Amino acid sequence: MENHIQKAADILSHTERLLVLTGAGISTSAGIPDFRGDKGIYTLGTVSEDIFDLRAFRDDPKRFWEFGKKFIFTMEKAAPTPMHRFIKKLEIRMETTVVTQNIDGIHEKAGSTDVIELHGSFSSLTCLSCGKTYAYKGKQDQIMETNSPICECGGALKPDIVFFGEPVQDLKKAFKKAADADTMMIIGSSLTVYPASLLPSYFKGKMIVVNKGPVSGITITDLFLDIEADRAAIELSKILFPGEEI
Ligand code: OAD
Repeated sequence: MENHIQKAADILSHTERLLVLTGAGISTSAGIPDFRGDKGIYTLGTVSEDIFDLRAFRDDPKRFWEFGKKFIFTMEKAAPTPMHRFIKKLEIRMETTVVTQNIDGIHEKAGSTDVIELHGSFSSLTCLSCGKTYAYKGKQDQIMETNSPICECGGALKPDIVFFGEPVQDLKKAFKKAADADTMMIIGSSLTVYPASLLPSYFKGKMIVVNKGPVSGITITDLFLDIEADRAAIELSKILFPGEEI
């Protein structure tokens, strides 16, 4: 594995434009469970995949919010991991864009300046009837007490997370960034969810994958580090930023 770390560091040290694609696995060490990993919420059956389905939400918003309020509470108090901080630090050495499937907002907390949140975020809510939007904070008490935040028009409020059945955000921008990058890192994602899974096909440079367990669609020419994201961050940091803390 040392050899792989050194190779990844060599690639990064010759990179001008980096695209980092992150998934839930980058945030598990911050206390947020992933979906399909060993302890993932789909793997363990904590919730079924249709919890993020738009039609299921319309049918029964309370069912979502019973789960969603705890999930959001966990995300709100989560702090950046060593890998989030390492990605931020890479901005010193190269143009760095983060495309994340995560809705936890941790890349922004770490200070990353160019972040595309493909799946939106929980920080705002939109009424499914009239389209009015609200800050999550302003509705938090209602969510905690009733599992059913309501708009002033009486419509159900949905978090501005991209549910299955909705278009993802800034997709064209993400594809363009992938096409322009000379290195791409995929970190903590099974890459099974469309359309984030299409991103590598828009990219022609060197690929580094950091993930515990299999990742869909990666090829044998990709440099695959099947290790904890934070370990990769710490080891890469020792080479790229010697003597500095991450
Ligand atoms: P997944 O749960 O599908 O994949 C996370 C991957 O990270 C798994 O392969 C884990 O083994 C790996 N992993 C977990 N902890 C890790 C660690 N500490 N270091 C390295 N790898 C680790 O999550 P995503 O690919 O992000 O969509 O899932 C994509 C989308 O599916 C999510 O954005 C979500 C879900 O439905 C929506 O909410 C709309």
